[in-house]
Amino acid sequence: RTVYVNGDYLPETEAKVSVFDRGFLMADGVYEVTSVLGGKLIDFQGHCVRLARSLSELDMTNPMTDAEWLAMHRELVAQNGIQDGMIYLQVTRGNPGDRDFAFPGPDVTPTVVAFTQAKPGLAENPQAAIGIRVISIPDIRWGRRDIKTVQLLYPSMGKMMAKKAGVDDAWFVEEGHVTEGTSNNAYIVKGNRIITRPLSSDILHGITRAAVLRFAAEAQMVVEERLFTVEEAKQADEAFISSASAFVMPVVELDGAQIGTGKPGKLVPRLREIYLEEMR
Ligand code: PDD
Repeated sequence: RTVYVNGDYLPETEAKVSVFDRGFLMADGVYEVTSVLGGKLIDFQGHCVRLARSLSELDMTNPMTDAEWLAMHRELVAQNGIQDGMIYLQVTRGNPGDRDFAFPGPDVTPTVVAFTQAKPGLAENPQAAIGIRVISIPDIRWGRRDIKTVQLLYPSMGKMMAKKAGVDDAWFVEEGHVTEGTSNNAYIVKGNRIITRPLSSDILHGITRAAVLRFAAEAQMVVEERLFTVEEAKQADEAFISSASAFVMPVVELDGAQIGTGKPGKLVPRLREIYLEEMR
């Protein structure tokens, strides 16, 4: 693989980042994951806007313009011959030359790293025809989940709890209400209504979420942004998650209870189809 590091395109074995980088020592950095379908970046403008916001919320300077981010992503796609897959982009606060809790001054420039992950047939994921099973776990993450930081230890632990329970993923629950999935936004469906948590610092403002809710409204589905409980989710007709890597993915079981028929219903597969059609 050819990866990007601080302005250079290098074989992955030659790319280097300092041991003092604050991303490595403090998880002091942010990231974006953009999907690629048929060589085309999906919703890249949205990812650029969120990246700029994440950086600004952490008082980091945005090292590139949107046009430069786009050119770099396109170059990585081309150099690695990616048809379907993901681009991972990470910006950390850089290397102050030592370990210190306080942020370094403006002379320390951010470290930028990006790489591709080929996923042939990403949009034809056979899991979408079956759906995924999830468990609920307490949401003990920090209070600024709207910033897409690289601090992913608890979400990783959540995935491991799901694995141990023999299911696919976990939904976080805080004060009785579902916040989101370990790496995706969470939704339930009642009749023609799609229910999902409103945007706040409790969840990541998914780029896929924004598009999905827009397309749902255009398709005469009703979007209700409000809190919902695990109990309500178990009683729902359908449920799903959304993210740049899963797009729209049915959820058919929660904490061992079947949702709806225990198979993907009507609305969610249709929404997935609409999303993929519109974005491709
Ligand atoms: N995860 N919520 C969380 C906690 C996430 O980590 C993500 C994305 C989302 C969905 O956001 P978007 O639709 O912009 O991908 C929601 C990415 C895909 C990841 O960490 O791999």
